[in-house]
Amino acid sequence: MGLIPNDVIHQVIERSDIVEIIGNYTALKKAGRNFKALCPFHHEKTPSFVVNPDKQIFHCFGCGVGGNAVGFLMRQEHLEFPEAVRFLANKAGIAVPQDASDAPNPSRQLREEIVKVNTLAALFFHDVLLTHRQADAGLARDYLKGRGVDLETVKKFQLGFAPNEWDALLKHLRSKGISEELMQKAGLIIAREGKNGHYDRFRNRIIFPIFDIQNRPLAFGARTMEESDGAKYINSPETVLYTKGQHMFGLQLTKLAAGKLDQMIVVEGYMDMIMPYTHGIENIAASLGTALTSEQVRLIRRYTSNVVMLFDTDAAGQSAIVRSLDLLIDEGMNVRVATLAQDEDPDSFIRQQGLEAFRARIKDAQSILDFKFNWLKGQYGLATVEGKSKISQELLLTIGRFKNEVAKYELTRQLARLLSVPESVLFKQAPASVNRQVPGKSPEDRAKGSASSVNTEELLLALFLKDAAWVKAAGEAVSPEDFSDGQMRQVVQGIWEVASQQREWSINDLLMLLNNEPAQSLVTRLISMEEGKLTDAARVFQDCIGKIQKERQKKIRGQLLQAIRQAEAEGDGQKLEELREQFNQSLKTS
Ligand code: UTP
Ligand code: MN
Repeated sequence: MGLIPNDVIHQVIERSDIVEIIGNYTALKKAGRNFKALCPFHHEKTPSFVVNPDKQIFHCFGCGVGGNAVGFLMRQEHLEFPEAVRFLANKAGIAVPQDASDAPNPSRQLREEIVKVNTLAALFFHDVLLTHRQADAGLARDYLKGRGVDLETVKKFQLGFAPNEWDALLKHLRSKGISEELMQKAGLIIAREGKNGHYDRFRNRIIFPIFDIQNRPLAFGARTMEESDGAKYINSPETVLYTKGQHMFGLQLTKLAAGKLDQMIVVEGYMDMIMPYTHGIENIAASLGTALTSEQVRLIRRYTSNVVMLFDTDAAGQSAIVRSLDLLIDEGMNVRVATLAQDEDPDSFIRQQGLEAFRARIKDAQSILDFKFNWLKGQYGLATVEGKSKISQELLLTIGRFKNEVAKYELTRQLARLLSVPESVLFKQAPASVNRQVPGKSPEDRAKGSASSVNTEELLLALFLKDAAWVKAAGEAVSPEDFSDGQMRQVVQGIWEVASQQREWSINDLLMLLNNEPAQSLVTRLISMEEGKLTDAARVFQDCIGKIQKERQKKIRGQLLQAIRQAEAEGDGQKLEELREQFNQSLKTS
């Protein structure tokens, strides 16, 4: 993102028209000052996609995404940020300075060189596998055939074979004029210890190139053909091009199908991705042997927000799923977990049971709650009091991560059923995030209460976004910490930041600063909110500020009371006196 200067980005956005850009992808109909359309990002029959020409933003009330022209293009064309800016710059006839993003950036140059070397290496390994007559290459072909990998698959994935020699690749690349320094930076060769020279990292192994979504070879995995021969897989080390856990194996082939089917199946290993794919599962990608990372989740989210996790049934696989779940919830994804029998993996399952059985497993995938409940039951057991309370504690934490209050409420009720305890017990126990209301009310009241307090904050935030004058008017009376929702805090913080700069700020400044999709979508949703709710803005503003200050006072008094109790317990008379005075003051001002 830092590659293109900010003022160029500004200029590009200023000179682009979001109506014209989005109009290329979906039919826009005038509706008042805005435009409406069928959302290009999810399937719908009645339009809930709004384009606002004044603020130059879009928002879909159906799937919840929103942003500016750059955000739209990133999603629609699956571009990275700088690529989307360039796309717009091109249209608007603005030159993005060469030196800002192209030539003189040494790490960019090195990355491009490594892509080139990797491309040559992948071709070499592939060619060896397909054509070499030596015995080792023959064994590799037999090995793959034995695992059910046919020629078409080998070509589709550019699978290869690294010969059983110390320097086959090294010699080949040298003959193409590649320096050993560059080969080493690409992670393809290793320096000899205590001697001059290098040797090939991958020897006598089947090669699985790892591509990025733009089909560039970033790294390699290499599998031994004999289980006794060291590690099962050797992978490329991290390079300036490749960071572990930031990519998904196979995604370059399946991203569009995942978008169309609106679902991604996530598996662990190379073969777990390849075999179902060749049997007809089009929406599958592999995390490569770890729990999902947030980079991977964001990658998936470009295409779909529905994920089915299908990991090995062994302890490692299951705990990798558990570690992935919280992250997926935090990123707002819908997740389910499919299970296989002990000692099965997706590769063996689809070969033995076929496509339809595989699809049935995906269809029957468990909800997060059911999956995690069963897993915790296995860990702690339901029979003892300790076990049961440990299970409920952990699951309440998981439930607390959901952003939607109704979802939290429903899940908490389901959990009560699973644990066979009265719902009220869980609602009492729930951490602040599940249950941030005054205790003693029924769950229904609580849900209502929280809706209205969120509403206050949303309304105020909507005012801030509608007209910067309200930001000035709020002045010291409100601060980001007064907002109970993390996303909102982030947006308010962003507003404070852009507003503190000298010149006037626009929604686009804010969207650029936020640089994260959920926060951006919150902004566009509030801006696109029906005007009706904000008529009589001055009164809404007064009400909101009043409520927020009351909340703040209440919080302060709570803290004072606690301090008073502590001072009492410690017998600190002087402190007690001071605190009581403060408490009385706080009562007067509210
Ligand atoms: P698995 O051990 O489940 O292997 O590791 P697999 O994918 O089923 O492989 P096959 O079917 O025996 O060929 C899952 C993933 O973990 C990573 C690889 O990405 C692998 O696909 N892994 C595993 C390694 O990187 N190194 C290893 O030594 C083992
Ligand atoms: Mn396997």
